[in-house]
Amino acid sequence: MNLCSSVLLALLLMCYGVGNINCFTAPEDSIDMLSLLDFKQAITNDPSGALSSWNTSIHHCKWRGVRCTPKNRGRVTAFNLAGEGLSGPITASVANLTFLHTLNLSGNHFSGQIPPLDNLQKLQVFDLSSNSLDGNIPDSIVNCSKLREKLGPLRE
Ligand SMILES: *[C@@H]1O[C@H](CO)[C@@H](O)[C@H](O)[C@H]1NC(C)=O
Ligand SMILES: *[C@@H]1O[C@H](CO)[C@@H](O)[C@H](O)[C@H]1NC(C)=O
Ligand SMILES: *[C@@H]1O[C@H](CO)[C@@H](O)[C@H](O)[C@H]1NC(C)=O
Ligand SMILES: *[C@@H]1O[C@H](CO)[C@@H](O)[C@H](O)[C@H]1NC(C)=O
Repeated sequence: MNLCSSVLLALLLMCYGVGNINCFTAPEDSIDMLSLLDFKQAITNDPSGALSSWNTSIHHCKWRGVRCTPKNRGRVTAFNLAGEGLSGPITASVANLTFLHTLNLSGNHFSGQIPPLDNLQKLQVFDLSSNSLDGNIPDSIVNCSKLREKLGPLRE
């Protein structure tokens, strides 16, 4: 990314009130990191300590359940915390992980509404089954022909 678009993005981030970002380093993967931290802060129970490695002294691509591909430089492509016993909502910030091709949060105790995930245009694997979620899976995901989804029961 060139300097111009870095600056532009940094300005945009400032408009959105995301403070204390270093304006001149990799703003796009910062969005992914901040989105994951937002997801983490909403978790109400993490019995197996699945998210204990999720702190800013470790690069977010190395956090448990998070994968990035090198060519996308810090953008998260897979987010898999299936069967970790997690409770809480799935925050709308997950929709900022726009490079995601795998989202698997099945077999936890997530509750509340499924956030609008229409931005996740690259999704190929999508599994929120066996939680306590309400609401519908967005049409844009259901209709996605690339998807090998598991649309199974959202409630156990
Ligand atoms: C971040 O997580 C790692 C791995 O769990 C741990 O060793 C380290 O002490 C943590 N750092 C902070 C600042 O919490
Ligand atoms: C991510 O998405 C949420 C909800 O759409 C939005 O409010 C937020 O500003 C975005 N950015 C980050 C870093 O979470
Ligand atoms: C998804 O498909 C249904 C049924 O084919 C259609 O009614 C709906 O408009 C489609 N939604 C989108 C967002 O393409
Ligand atoms: C999600 O992960 C669970 C546990 O590893 C696995 O059984 C399931 O098949 C995965 N879902 C998809 C759609 O790959």
